[in-house]
Amino acid sequence: MSSTTDPELIDKTTTDIAYLMENDEEALRLEIKTDIEAVRDEARWCGLKPGMRVLDAGCGPGLVTSILHEFIKPNGFILGVDYSTKRVEYANKKYANRNEIEFYLHDLRKPLKDIGTFDLIWARFVLEYNKKEAAEIVKNLQSIIRPGGLLCLLDLDYNCLTHYELSKPLESALFAIIGILETKYNFDPYIGRKLYSYLFDINCEKIESLLKAHHLFYGKVDENQIFNWTKKVEMAAHRLPEIISVYPKGKEGFIRDFNSFFLNPRRFSYTPMIICKGAKPYPFS
Ligand SMILES: C[S@@+](CC[C@H](N)C(=O)[O-])C[C@H]1O[C@@H](n2cnc3c(N)ncnc32)[C@H](O)[C@@H]1O
Repeated sequence: MSSTTDPELIDKTTTDIAYLMENDEEALRLEIKTDIEAVRDEARWCGLKPGMRVLDAGCGPGLVTSILHEFIKPNGFILGVDYSTKRVEYANKKYANRNEIEFYLHDLRKPLKDIGTFDLIWARFVLEYNKKEAAEIVKNLQSIIRPGGLLCLLDLDYNCLTHYELSKPLESALFAIIGILETKYNFDPYIGRKLYSYLFDINCEKIESLLKAHHLFYGKVDENQIFNWTKKVEMAAHRLPEIISVYPKGKEGFIRDFNSFFLNPRRFSYTPMIICKGAKPYPFS
């Protein structure tokens, strides 16, 4: 399958930067933070089966695509789609497998044409980066599902807003950061609660929903989580100098305070994940 080029990756009309977390280590962060068993559980719940033709929308570096592939073997096919050239190149090198796993460069905010239809479309942690266009993306995805096929949306709710116990300056800074990410970077920390309504609005049938903890931290946290959260905090500090510069002791103070909160075994933190799946109706059903 040929890939589109990405001159429209940075869409200045909708947002300053297309993907909030973009940086040279993003493929690594996405791989390290992936809990393979959790993805397998999610895939089972969503109903991936041998022989299916699946689309992984916003596939990132392709690790999750490769996990989903386990479920559709034999005779299944999975196409990973992402708008990041770097991620698609990485995924192609590491996970592409002729006739079984392919990757395709495309911005999901634009309709997907000429790639056929799918038995199941999976979109995990991608709508949250497209606050303004999330409903439009869901419609675009629905248009390439075969009648009776499944659309599975997986995303977080209260993303980054459920930490205890934060100092007052840290709490104010985090809430201010999330507010700016919403308005300036098209990020939606409350996307999880919207997934059911998106499926409802496009007339999906047999909609089911599942609520689980994506993160649940208390006591000691592992190295992978430390790496993931350090990267998130560094990205916030890098993108939002207007908030970080007025934080007591600036960027250094912000990163130091977050680390001492996050590494303190007394801390409690969780992130709800919501998964919704629904079937595309048959015409005239
Ligand atoms: C947080 S990662 C999730 C990766 C993978 N789905 C997972 O579960 O680990 C989000 C990915 O979505 C991609 N993405 C975000 N908005 C997109 C859009 N409008 N079109 C295509 N890809 C998009 C980003 O480039 C990034 O690789």
